[in-house]
Amino acid sequence: MRNQYLPAVPIFFIMGAMLCFSIPALAVEKTLYERLGGYDAVSAVVDDFANKLFNDPVVGARFFGMGDDTREAFRQKNKNLVCRVTGGPCKIISRSASQTHDGLGIKASEFAIVAQHLVDTLNKFKVPQKEHDELMAIIGSLRPDIVEIEGQ
Ligand code: HEM
Repeated sequence: MRNQYLPAVPIFFIMGAMLCFSIPALAVEKTLYERLGGYDAVSAVVDDFANKLFNDPVVGARFFGMGDDTREAFRQKNKNLVCRVTGGPCKIISRSASQTHDGLGIKASEFAIVAQHLVDTLNKFKVPQKEHDELMAIIGSLRPDIVEIEGQ
């Protein structure tokens, strides 16, 4: 008599083979946060970027009058934001981009300066082009919430 469980053997074999092939594929799929180097790398990038903003001859005026404590809070909020939007484990501690930038009258040219500082920082830290482009695309997606004056 034919064993009723026999057809299950090839099915388990196929499922096993599928698992063997898919597990390594899953294992290499890292988040942008991981590919950037995790929290310490994000932290170093934001520190460098923030210092460029504070010292910029044009947009630096936007941060004039912020004391050390407020600047540190600004840096920390940006670290948590970058960590979270790249797939990291941080909690967002800032308010929304539109809430915090509405009414500041930020010009397109100012956004371009800020974005260029981030590009310069990513180049300084030798962030690979793929991760560089992914992060800039995420930050660029915030532009409509931040820029109020186009064409200037
Ligand atoms: C490039 C994308 C940008 C990102 C990711 C970003 C991110 C942030 C974050 C996280 C905060 C803190 C929000 C909070 O206190 O809850 C903030 C505040 C601020 N940002 Fe931006 N920002 C961007 C572009 C800009 C630009 C282009 C300017 C002007 C040149 C600007 C000027 C400011 C100012 C002045 C504050 C302080 C607002 C306040 O607390 O009164 N930001 N930004």
